[in-house]
Amino acid sequence: MSDPVAEISQTSSPPGNVSQTGPSIQEQVRKLIAESEDQDGWDKAWKLGITPWDAGYAQPPLVDLLASKVLELPTSGYALVPGCGRGYDPILIASTLGLDTLAIDIAETAVQVANENLAKANVAPPGKVTFRLDDFFKLSGSDGGGQFDLIYDYTFFVAIPPELRKEWGKKMTELVKSGGFLVTLVFPMDPPQDYGPPFYVRPEHYVEVLGNQWEKVYDKVPERSSETHKGREQMVVYRKL
Ligand SMILES: C[S@@+](CC[C@H](N)C(=O)[O-])C[C@H]1O[C@@H](n2cnc3c(N)ncnc32)[C@H](O)[C@@H]1O
Repeated sequence: MSDPVAEISQTSSPPGNVSQTGPSIQEQVRKLIAESEDQDGWDKAWKLGITPWDAGYAQPPLVDLLASKVLELPTSGYALVPGCGRGYDPILIASTLGLDTLAIDIAETAVQVANENLAKANVAPPGKVTFRLDDFFKLSGSDGGGQFDLIYDYTFFVAIPPELRKEWGKKMTELVKSGGFLVTLVFPMDPPQDYGPPFYVRPEHYVEVLGNQWEKVYDKVPERSSETHKGREQMVVYRKL
């Protein structure tokens, strides 16, 4: 069998660049995920720097939401960030809200770099971040003191196969405590397609799988987005009843 890392290495462009001649960076991600066993395609993507979703900094809509104080978000307790990548957003959440933040990813390389970023970040107490190699769907009630006060999803929902979305909704409902928040940065809102990642997404896709234990408390097109995200993202926050 051919080695997808070796093959893609020959055709890939530097991070953030779209190859003009070979497959696009997104096609390269899809090839890695499709051809890998045991979910290690994501780790290969991080190793090769084929990470078009990674801005290198915290997402501007999240920065603005936390700074605006428009929602009374928790300032004590536990947060969770599944599919955390290099960890800019969980570090921001812990620093800004002071939450004890668990950030997980199934890609070892991402968790490693996230820990390096954390060492440079000096998150002040009571804020705290723990990066851990873990699968969201295997999290149990013993994490986050039983239940989380806030969970943040940026490009995790669109990374998982659509057939797992129902399970995502069930797990979110199980993991967030009553009165807690689910912050979703919906991206990329591109024309419909039946392949991925990223898989086709609209804000209502989250509602469809969350069930009736949630109320929407915030829904806005961000005023500030990264250049490549403009017109393609929406910040939606739910509160668990
Ligand atoms: C599109 S990336 C987004 C990364 C991150 N949110 C960021 O801002 O860079 C999706 C991430 O989800 C991770 N992932 C995929 N399935 C996962 C799972 N079941 N549990 C935890 N992480 C997962 C991948 O390894 C990848 O790092």
